[in-house]
Amino acid sequence: MDRAERYWKHQAIADSYFSCSSSSPKHADEVEIFNSLETLGEHIVVDFGIGGGRELDWINKLKNTTRIIGVDYSERTLTQCQRLSVKSPKPLTLLVDDFRQMDSLTVLLDGDSSRKAFLFLANVFGNLEICERLEVLKKTSSFMKQEDRLFLYLFKRSRTKGEMTAEAQYYQKYYSGLDQVVIKELFGSEPSYYYDFEENNVVTACNEGPVVFSHRWEESEIRSVVEQAGLKIEKIKEGNHAFVAIAKV
Ligand SMILES: C[S@@+](CC[C@H](N)C(=O)[O-])C[C@H]1O[C@@H](n2cnc3c(N)ncnc32)[C@H](O)[C@@H]1O
Repeated sequence: MDRAERYWKHQAIADSYFSCSSSSPKHADEVEIFNSLETLGEHIVVDFGIGGGRELDWINKLKNTTRIIGVDYSERTLTQCQRLSVKSPKPLTLLVDDFRQMDSLTVLLDGDSSRKAFLFLANVFGNLEICERLEVLKKTSSFMKQEDRLFLYLFKRSRTKGEMTAEAQYYQKYYSGLDQVVIKELFGSEPSYYYDFEENNVVTACNEGPVVFSHRWEESEIRSVVEQAGLKIEKIKEGNHAFVAIAKV
């Protein structure tokens, strides 16, 4: 198990999701995804990295979403999500799966012909290593039919070199309290934080090296990886903090 996987699977992460899931508001730029899903027609949402289910609140309000499939490799996190889902009026299936493999999802979707919306919210796609991103998109695209859509919510980087956006600064602060516990327990050291201006990643590290990072994007990068995966960009909307990219096969 790599360091990032150990981090995401820690009990304290799952607990923190549960305590903030019901209260945290929609990420501001997610409204673009909400509006697009409203016009997609009847569909199933497949939410990659659903975590504690923060987004269930607004997904449950979508009139055309008939079912939600939440995928996450942290069983502990899904247990917390399940607690929250008691309030979920739409059928919810929570699947323990690693979206770098998608073995369980492949079995679940086998023979299912309903229209689907595949979601990577909260920069989940930007937490993947560069070498994993293309593979994950290719796997996702292998599930997609013409009427399906992929939605990527990806945090922006600053246009000024050497500068962090306010969002990236907020992100570091948000996780720092939690990381004091998680990094210490897993790796026995204090967490350290930095912005890697070469790679444009917000990094949390332990004394052995980086543990988790979260990439900050520019539009041309998004277009490039989506197109390399054989998908077509239907729309890219630039919000205050994030890009929302919508793609189809
Ligand atoms: C930043 S949280 C996002 C939570 C939630 N979707 C939200 O928008 O607030 C990222 C989630 O992705 C999960 N995750 C990260 N890498 C994963 C992988 N390779 N396979 C499955 N889940 C993964 C983590 O366990 C974590 O719950």
